[in-house]
Amino acid sequence: MNITGSIKEVRAQVKEWRRQGLTVGLVPTMGYLHEGHKSLIDRAVMENDRVVVSDFVNPIQFGVNEDLSTYPRDIEADKRLCEAAGADLIFHPTPDEMYAADFFTFVETQKVSEGLCGKSRPTHFRGVCTVVSKLFHIVMPDRAYFGEKDAQQLAVVRRMVRDLNMDIEIVGCPIIREADGLAKSSRNTYLNKEERKAALVLSRAIFHGREMVENGEQNAETVLSAMRDIIESEPLARIDYVEMVDADSIEPVTKVHGRVLAAMAVFIGKTRLIDNFIVENC
Ligand code: PAF
Repeated sequence: MNITGSIKEVRAQVKEWRRQGLTVGLVPTMGYLHEGHKSLIDRAVMENDRVVVSDFVNPIQFGVNEDLSTYPRDIEADKRLCEAAGADLIFHPTPDEMYAADFFTFVETQKVSEGLCGKSRPTHFRGVCTVVSKLFHIVMPDRAYFGEKDAQQLAVVRRMVRDLNMDIEIVGCPIIREADGLAKSSRNTYLNKEERKAALVLSRAIFHGREMVENGEQNAETVLSAMRDIIESEPLARIDYVEMVDADSIEPVTKVHGRVLAAMAVFIGKTRLIDNFIVENC
């Protein structure tokens, strides 16, 4: 496995793979890789001849008061995980390699990026779409892999790819959880012992909401209010949002019908965590 920070070198490598008739999968990440990322790499390795993992903490998707400077990083551990998972190349650029000092071009999807996380993070998805477009242009993959934990991000990227006619298959992969239910996230590392325990309130609410829907509850507000009650019972938790939306358009729904996403963002102390469930064909 190779690692490079150079766009030119990634392009040369991918060009050579293409010359050999090989398919290429891309797993875009911000590093500090865990089992959730590994499941994306595993799937990419199964479905492509060569796999590129991008490992880049993208500054333009962080808001002014967000955790860009403290976002966890450990490239040595990331290398070990990628190597063990069978990735072929890590692309680990510096911010300067990705963004010239006079960089003024952004990619933005409207509507789908405005609800849920977009309300409290208004420039976040513009930063995500811009870096993901750049990565797609640099790597030119056949397929790209994203986690369903960031369900709105996945909907936004799918919409961007459709609207801009990018010839790339977007593959969504299921949420990976700790044994006690907490969705795996690089940000879990911010939690102290007490907060880590309190954070279980998210998955408890998710499991309860999903069970209500599976048992036939169709009123979105009834499900959401039961989920909010669970979260509000935890003194360390503060709700940013708990909502039910159409999983593709991210428009709010009142009835659980079709492909529906129940999503939440909850602060545990200062750490903002997200979780969700998607129900289909209900
Ligand atoms: O999901 C992430 O880790 C990031 O938002 C992504 C897709 C790698 C873009 O920086």
